[in-house]
Amino acid sequence: MAKSLGPVKRKFSPWTDPDAVPFIRFENVTKRFGDFVAVDNLTLDIYEREFFSLLGPSGCGKTTLMRMLAGFEQPTSGRILLQGKDLSGTPPYKRPTNMMFQSYALFPHMTVEKNIAFGLEQDNLARGEIDARVAEMLKLVKLDQFAKRKPNQLSGGQRQRVALARSLAKRPKVLLLDEPLGALDRKLREETQFELMDIQTKLGLTFLIVTHDQEEAMTVSDRIAVMDKGILVQVATPAEIYEAPNCRYVADFIGDINILEGKLLSRDDAAGRDTVKVDCEGISVAVEQSCAATPGDAVAFAIRPEKVRISLDQPVDISTNALHGEVWDIGYLGDFSVFIVKLDDGRMFRAAQANVARLVDRPITFGDMVWLSWSADAGLVLTR
Ligand SMILES: Nc1ncnc2c1ncn2[C@@H]1O[C@H](COP(=O)(O)OP(=O)(O)OP(=O)(O)O)[C@@H](O)[C@H]1O
Ligand SMILES: [Mg+2]
Repeated sequence: MAKSLGPVKRKFSPWTDPDAVPFIRFENVTKRFGDFVAVDNLTLDIYEREFFSLLGPSGCGKTTLMRMLAGFEQPTSGRILLQGKDLSGTPPYKRPTNMMFQSYALFPHMTVEKNIAFGLEQDNLARGEIDARVAEMLKLVKLDQFAKRKPNQLSGGQRQRVALARSLAKRPKVLLLDEPLGALDRKLREETQFELMDIQTKLGLTFLIVTHDQEEAMTVSDRIAVMDKGILVQVATPAEIYEAPNCRYVADFIGDINILEGKLLSRDDAAGRDTVKVDCEGISVAVEQSCAATPGDAVAFAIRPEKVRISLDQPVDISTNALHGEVWDIGYLGDFSVFIVKLDDGRMFRAAQANVARLVDRPITFGDMVWLSWSADAGLVLTR
């Protein structure tokens, strides 16, 4: 990789600018297949040069949304605008979009390089330009050595990289990638993610990507949309989605989290700090957060395992939230260990600890009685 993307990425947040004009706009878009509502009155703005991800369970409408933008499917109602212009009536090949399908179809009788060159030849680009782009793409997806092979002489992951190269070669203004890296092994996948971000920034393209891999979405995206049953549940930056999920569904869908159901005990916004107390069936927790609920309302307390400290000794500061229990299970992940602790009341709670030192004198182990603790700003109160 040539240059750091930091200076570009740090400043990029058009969605916070009230005067910014969205590049792509889904406006009250609904898609029905017979009686079934696949996309439900959805409104979404995506900005030029944004790397935007769609996350959500199987069948929630991700591919349908992309197919409508690419023009392969018409909205039942609502509009899709590109730079303010209604796209209805514009056929797929006249849209500045290119879609790499979930089931990428390569031409079986053509070599890898011919597959990549195909779209460029259709566009009547000069031979020299075509050759240069194909070479660039082959290098990008690390298939230089396979240029002369046919798709059936490649592995699944290699075929996927050809499809990716083919859709990138045309440098569409908007690239729609439906699970583009699903068939790659972890290392190659991570490398390709960074390469994708690099190309996207360098060429100034707008990417809309579907992935089932949350880490991937967190890594590459400027913003993420979490979908459920045809609606958008939250649209925000990766950090906001992770640290400030707007409901139980998003909190639970992204990453690992402890959720305790309870009810709001009190709300205190004295001293300029909002403090909320929640009773979770006998466990009382304090959270520093503003909260719209009123005492008595059903709410949930949520906290990520890595924000929970685990210790053999009782925390000295009595103002911190603390629970006591027994180590029930340990997941050793190399960089992290996850401790599943059975609390004194029988409920399970997770704490994760970074394995900072290689060897520890007295590691916490199965059956140990431990304390779990966290500060008041580490957890969240969820009202939805
Ligand atoms: N042509 C069609 N006719 C009828 N139903 C359809 C059609 N296309 C999609 N659907 C339905 O619409 C819903 C959304 O499908 P879509 O392909 O958008 O899901 P997805 O979010 O991409 O899921 P996955 O992660 O499994 O790819 C599904 O329930 C699907 O069965
Ligand atoms: Mg899909």
